[in-house]
Amino acid sequence: PYTIGAQAVWRGEVEEGETVLIQGAGPIGICILKMAKLQGASVMITDLSDERLEFAKESGADITVHAGKEDVQKRVEEWTNGEGANVVIDAVCLPMTFEFSFDVVSTAGRIVVLGFDERPSSVSQLPITKKEVSVKGSRLQTDQFPKVVKLLNEGKLRHEGLVTHTFSLDEIQEAFNFVENHPEQVRKAIIVFN
Ligand SMILES: NC(=O)c1ccc[n+]([C@@H]2O[C@H](COP(=O)([O-])OP(=O)(O)OC[C@H]3O[C@@H](n4cnc5c(N)ncnc54)[C@H](O)[C@@H]3O)[C@@H](O)[C@H]2O)c1
Repeated sequence: PYTIGAQAVWRGEVEEGETVLIQGAGPIGICILKMAKLQGASVMITDLSDERLEFAKESGADITVHAGKEDVQKRVEEWTNGEGANVVIDAVCLPMTFEFSFDVVSTAGRIVVLGFDERPSSVSQLPITKKEVSVKGSRLQTDQFPKVVKLLNEGKLRHEGLVTHTFSLDEIQEAFNFVENHPEQVRKAIIVFN
């Protein structure tokens, strides 16, 4: 999953000092967050779960926003002095979150899309043309493994609670059952090959 985060940050051309809005603090949102922070960006992340937002804060988010209780657009405007976020990465992947990205992206901003949802979104041309926005897809990873493995080996990238469960290979059925039956307890479960 860190390589998914690395790819999204690379596709978004995230640079040091830029503002990045990540929609969704699931495991993928958290991996994107960690990679964006390593790039030196300032990061706001949204979710509908207080627990997930709390974990995002622990994982380095500069600002967390509850999308169900707060006005995300207003929070982005306040945070960026009305400019909008330089990069918006959608790790919720619903038609509505994709559409919302255009409302909060800055001039010359980049919107990174990770979703596999086939439902169409309704987006007008105006914000894309007016702000010269780039919309970029991010799928799996191109050559991100060496970078991520190096960051892990150097201790710059740390799990810090992202891996909640570990199973051995002979417990594989148990692992799948557990993840399926207790999704609220699992961030990432890993299988260890001895
Ligand atoms: N493109 C790729 O290579 C790639 C790879 C892996 C996953 N994905 C996609 O990334 C997405 C995220 O994966 P995940 O494992 O983190 O999923 P997840 O379901 O665990 O996380 C999604 C989070 O979004 C939150 N959310 C829902 N509606 C929201 C809203 N309106 N505003 C803010 N937050 C909201 C949920 O509470 C949840 O925490 C999935 O759609 C998955 O298919 C893409």
